[in-house]
Amino acid sequence: MFIKKKNNIDLNNIPQHIAIIMDGNGRWAKKRGLSRSVGHREGSKTLKKIVEACYELGVKYLTVYAFSTENWSRPKEEVDELMKLLLEYLRNAEQELKGKNVRIRVIGEKTGLTDEIISEIERVENNTSHIEGLDFIIALNYGGRQEIVRAVTDLVEDVKAGRETVIDENTIRQRLYTRDIPDPDLLIRTSGEIRLSNFLIWQSSYSELYFCDVLWPDFTKNHLLEAIRSYQGRQRRFGGVIC
Ligand code: FPP
Repeated sequence: MFIKKKNNIDLNNIPQHIAIIMDGNGRWAKKRGLSRSVGHREGSKTLKKIVEACYELGVKYLTVYAFSTENWSRPKEEVDELMKLLLEYLRNAEQELKGKNVRIRVIGEKTGLTDEIISEIERVENNTSHIEGLDFIIALNYGGRQEIVRAVTDLVEDVKAGRETVIDENTIRQRLYTRDIPDPDLLIRTSGEIRLSNFLIWQSSYSELYFCDVLWPDFTKNHLLEAIRSYQGRQRRFGGVIC
């Protein structure tokens, strides 16, 4: 079906980890005279399709930016709607993904989230923790700078207590939310904005960045394939040289 038709994608060079900034829900809704929350709801439908596409393509990790630590400054009504949507998503995710090997995890600060959301996160994480297919990681109440500060604070505590002697990239990395997840190979941002907005700033140092003008609710499997095609045309040097 869909994958077989896309024969200009090299299925042996699929990015292991794709990260996505799902931007443009608000503009999508505004263009149609709808409320921003309708845009987020449409964005949630797009996400389901993209999770499935990643699963079919054999992507090992997909991380999406669902709610940043800065998003609390949005109007209360929008924040409440987003939290409602996230809760609904977490409640239905296993049913929706039934038959597919998808493990769900959530990264970010638990502080500020309702008890209802926290217990739903714990439930879905526990129920899917044994699954070895696609790791679907939702960044919720997540901020890259906050993640680094938290990791460094933990490291300093461990050094002071004698539990750690070394301060280096590795000992910081071990204290990030993503400690057991490889860095993203490909980071996609939709909607024409060209910045990282505090998303996986440590982890994306050597990610291939892909920006497209499509608003997130309009993003399709074909757009994903286009991003992967672009990725496959890049030369990854990681600071070295290709001889
Ligand atoms: C950015 O678009 C998008 C967000 C802040 C929220 C992303 C959330 C979803 C796609 C909803 C579903 C997610 C899950 C995990 C269920 P924006 O609102 O900043 O759009 P704009 O830049 O056009 O205003």
